[in-house]
Amino acid sequence: MLDRALRRVDEFCTAYDMRVPILMAPMAGACPPALAAAVAEAGGMGGCGALMMDPDEIAQWAAEFRAASKGPFQMNLWVPDPAPPRDADHERAVTEFLAAWGPAPARLSADLPVPFADQCEALIEARPAVMSSIMGLFPPHVVDRMKAGGISWFATATTVAEALQAEAAGADAIIAQGSEAGGHRGAFNADKANAQMCGSMALVPAIHDAVGVPVIAAGGMADARGVVAALALGASAVLVGTAFLRAPEAAIAPAWADAIGRAQPDDTTTTRAFSGRLGRSLRTDYIAATECEGAPAPLPYPLQRSATGPMRALGAKENNLACMQAWAGQSARLARNEPAGEIVRSIWTEARATLIQ
Ligand SMILES: Cc1cc2nc3c(=O)[nH]c(=O)nc-3n(C[C@H](O)[C@H](O)[C@H](O)COP(=O)(O)O)c2cc1C
Repeated sequence: MLDRALRRVDEFCTAYDMRVPILMAPMAGACPPALAAAVAEAGGMGGCGALMMDPDEIAQWAAEFRAASKGPFQMNLWVPDPAPPRDADHERAVTEFLAAWGPAPARLSADLPVPFADQCEALIEARPAVMSSIMGLFPPHVVDRMKAGGISWFATATTVAEALQAEAAGADAIIAQGSEAGGHRGAFNADKANAQMCGSMALVPAIHDAVGVPVIAAGGMADARGVVAALALGASAVLVGTAFLRAPEAAIAPAWADAIGRAQPDDTTTTRAFSGRLGRSLRTDYIAATECEGAPAPLPYPLQRSATGPMRALGAKENNLACMQAWAGQSARLARNEPAGEIVRSIWTEARATLIQ
């Protein structure tokens, strides 16, 4: 079984010009080029979460990465949800609740920060090795353009059904996102995210058995034990997010980085209170307050994100964990405060030694 795992790893690494089967997760807001380049220089694949970036920022990110590394990188986009319904009373209740946590938003907006079509175009022009999707599938004309440009498509899936849809639409690999994962849950249908929480231990082999393309395991892999387990379960590589957040290159707010290092699995929770989309975060004071009786339910995405914008910005500026957006996966406590390249090298050295025993 471990022989087969190593063969899968070799095939995957050869196909994507990697020496180590570790991909940095694309983490919107927490993926500076320096972090991605450090991962690629250590033999893995860098990652960029481009959700909030306009075309110039996308081009700039790719240029900065290329100035620091010749290795491979992926760029990631969220596939937009349908426009949410508006409810003035609900929006007022949420705005009033948030007044205790930060400045009021000027107005709530359901607009996307940058048009999705423009972001797709900018990604294709940036020519990453891989474009990855989350929350849905790239439209066929985007898939055709990226493939014509020699760019592979990795599609995030949280269920077997989503993985099969992605494979049928042309995905070159499936990122199987287990419910341990930090950050947003990639469910194609936002309303079903809570009901579709499946851990990596069950999801990775289920998707591996169902599809013919390589599977990349995401969620809870933060040391050699997790990587060996994921590869034994059928993955060809792992996608790692939270374990890189304490690396100096990530440059996240110190209070967030410190809390990650202390967090036991149950110190994280899933919540819609930051954006309206389900995601896994540290259980901060703000999250706890949103779970109290009488607190208004979060607005649908992206209205809740718009409503919490000023609070999140203030939390980050003042290094105040209570109200910052503090995404973290369930293996947070394994994240090490070490250079990202060291993290990649030490995880893979130990994992490989276990696999070839
Ligand atoms: C701070 C943060 C931001 C994230 N942003 C994105 C994103 O923009 N796009 C995406 O596909 N996944 C995003 N994710 C999810 C990761 O891609 C990945 O599924 C997750 O980090 C894996 O689990 P782990 O954190 O336990 O390693 C984010 C995760 C974190 C922690």
